[in-house]
Amino acid sequence: MAGTAHAAGTLGAAAASSGRYFGAAVAASHLGESAYASTFDTEFNAVTPENEMKWDATEPSRGSFSFGSADQIVSNAQAHGMKIRGHTLVWHSQLPSWVGNLSASDLQSAMDNHITQVMTHFKGKIYAWDVVNEAFADGASGQHRSSPFQDKLGNGFIEHAFRTARSVDPDAKLCYNDYNIENWTDAKTQGVYNMVKDFKSRGVPIDCVGFQSHFGSSGPPAGFATTLANFASLGVDVQLTELDIAQAPASAYTSTVQACLSVARCTGITVWGVTDKYSWRSGDTPLLFDGNYGKKAAYTAVLNALNAGGATTPPTTPPTSPPTTPPTTPPTTPPPTSGPVCAASYAVTNSWAGGYQIEVTVKSTGTAALSAWTVLWNQPADQTVSQMWNAVQGTNGSLTTAHNTSYNGSVAPGASTTFGYLANSADAPASTLPMSCTIS
Ligand code: XIL
Repeated sequence: MAGTAHAAGTLGAAAASSGRYFGAAVAASHLGESAYASTFDTEFNAVTPENEMKWDATEPSRGSFSFGSADQIVSNAQAHGMKIRGHTLVWHSQLPSWVGNLSASDLQSAMDNHITQVMTHFKGKIYAWDVVNEAFADGASGQHRSSPFQDKLGNGFIEHAFRTARSVDPDAKLCYNDYNIENWTDAKTQGVYNMVKDFKSRGVPIDCVGFQSHFGSSGPPAGFATTLANFASLGVDVQLTELDIAQAPASAYTSTVQACLSVARCTGITVWGVTDKYSWRSGDTPLLFDGNYGKKAAYTAVLNALNAGGATTPPTTPPTSPPTTPPTTPPTTPPPTSGPVCAASYAVTNSWAGGYQIEVTVKSTGTAALSAWTVLWNQPADQTVSQMWNAVQGTNGSLTTAHNTSYNGSVAPGASTTFGYLANSADAPASTLPMSCTIS
């Protein structure tokens, strides 16, 4: 926990305390800079090559493959025991022009060959591959975007890429990766969600969804944790794959990390660069280390959030049958009463054979801010709480209690905060569990 002798001192170690990774995108060309390399090697336990595994780097002309700079990143990562995310096999951008000039049948075989050659070269070394990147359109359509692959091969190219990838390296996790899919109600988010749902229902191999998480200075959308939970409930892992936030506000980084920690199947976070100096958005200074490798306020915020939230461990038993979208109990909104008042409501955010995950929302419903809160409920005896995050578990007679932590006790009128827990249970999660909230 934060502030105790057990708090981890690096991002990677803090994430590892809940079974997660914390990675950075790196460029091979900077690994020779000692401050870059030492910051990266010390703080992170996962890596994504920023450009070195893209099509234009690995197969610049048809059939001639070059892996030199990607290999450099991979061997550095292996020497430090880091997880490696492979990025990316099929993407319309950083695509050499020869690919776009092929006929449909030629393009199909070039795509299959590219996936096969690249995955074979790195076989056994990659934790997760971004098999397809950014295939959906922005805006209201919720459809695939135009690209050489889409335009010549049709909708089926994504499924085909995943099936090919599984056959080449059955041990790598296979991800779909995209941006602007963090807000649950967006058409693009729904389009990707429906694709993943369809893939799972038809047995198309997909293991994970990457949320790029390139945010403006206000950080993630309010419903980000809901989006992650809803995807996870389809039976895939979720990951934050390219996180950066304009101006790097500490609070925006904190809420982003907390969103991941609140979902058992959110297995890790990658920031898109080590230092602001080399960020692809360097004008936005969006990262955790400044141009001189100094730790920014956002660094400390992320470290503290990872340490505080370290109670969540991904379930060891994956869901056997994909649960449907979790039932949510809408928070009640009584008229404000004078003074501090709180109300608690909850939602089942994930469930699997042997357990489930609950997210509780504590809302400040009075006219004055809360300075402390405790939520009480009668936990069914056969459904033991196994882990809790963003609150301290206790008892009050036969009731289970959750008290605020040092960092989330104060809640302004009308605002809310959340905490979560996992329960071991052979039964389905309670759908009507009365929860009460007190202000001490
Ligand atoms: C960016 C790199 O950071 C830049 O160095 C490069 O010039 C362009 O690509 N979405 C992705 C990443 O999936 O691959 C992109 O990386 C950023 C947006």
